[in-house]
Amino acid sequence: MANKEKQAREREPRIVWVEETNSTNSLAREWMEKEPMPEGSAIVADFQTAGRGQVGNTWESEAGKNLLFSVVLYPVTLAANRQFLISQIAALSVKETLDLYTTDITVKWPNDIYWKDRKICGMLIENDLSGAYLSDSIIGIGLNLNQATFLSDAPNPVSLFRILHREVNREEVLRRFLTIFYAHYISLLREEYDEIRACYRSVLYRGEGFYRYQDAGGMFEARVRDIEPTGHLLLESRDGSVRRYAFKEVAFR
Ligand code: BTN
Repeated sequence: MANKEKQAREREPRIVWVEETNSTNSLAREWMEKEPMPEGSAIVADFQTAGRGQVGNTWESEAGKNLLFSVVLYPVTLAANRQFLISQIAALSVKETLDLYTTDITVKWPNDIYWKDRKICGMLIENDLSGAYLSDSIIGIGLNLNQATFLSDAPNPVSLFRILHREVNREEVLRRFLTIFYAHYISLLREEYDEIRACYRSVLYRGEGFYRYQDAGGMFEARVRDIEPTGHLLLESRDGSVRRYAFKEVAFR
């Protein structure tokens, strides 16, 4: 590890709150290229002018209402083929944070957070590799907290405000998240991979029972058989046949 990164791993995490930026993930990357931030640091924005979602989508959020942040890690002992563990601990940490406020929170594979059948949080995780290992990871999280109405064409958004009918303190939610997240990250550094995978499996949206799915071949009914360490989803049809999917190759219907 370069000396600069080593120093960054040894310093206390910081929380930097900015009023406006294009995207906290992009800002984190920009800052890291100049001077690596201490591991576990978070960059939070009140507003993003070009918030980025998965697969090139945009992420819209009303100014000052939600939590838009990116956490910086240097998981240098994590093999590239196990990088899905970062998604898993991030998703688990958001779920466990929201469990402090409400019920019915689940993780929709791979890393959307749902309340009942609605999306309350999305993540954009950007990992950098060095050979067969990770060098850094930027975990971007958009968590809908106090927004009352959603105007964009996101399919089924919800916020904690819509669930609780009261506002929550954004900084309190962030601090609770970080405490939970650091505990999961320590478990990852201890290579407790099976425990993390089992925990993730147990909180999956529609994790038990048969549901309708759609892939390139059409509609079918299946149940979740497993999530592979690589993050692939294994679905088992009623006839017992198993299909394997990468992200976006299959959709819930
Ligand atoms: C998704 O499409 O579900 C992922 C959304 C991720 C949004 C968050 S908001 C903070 C961070 N900065 C970004 O530009 N994107 C992520």
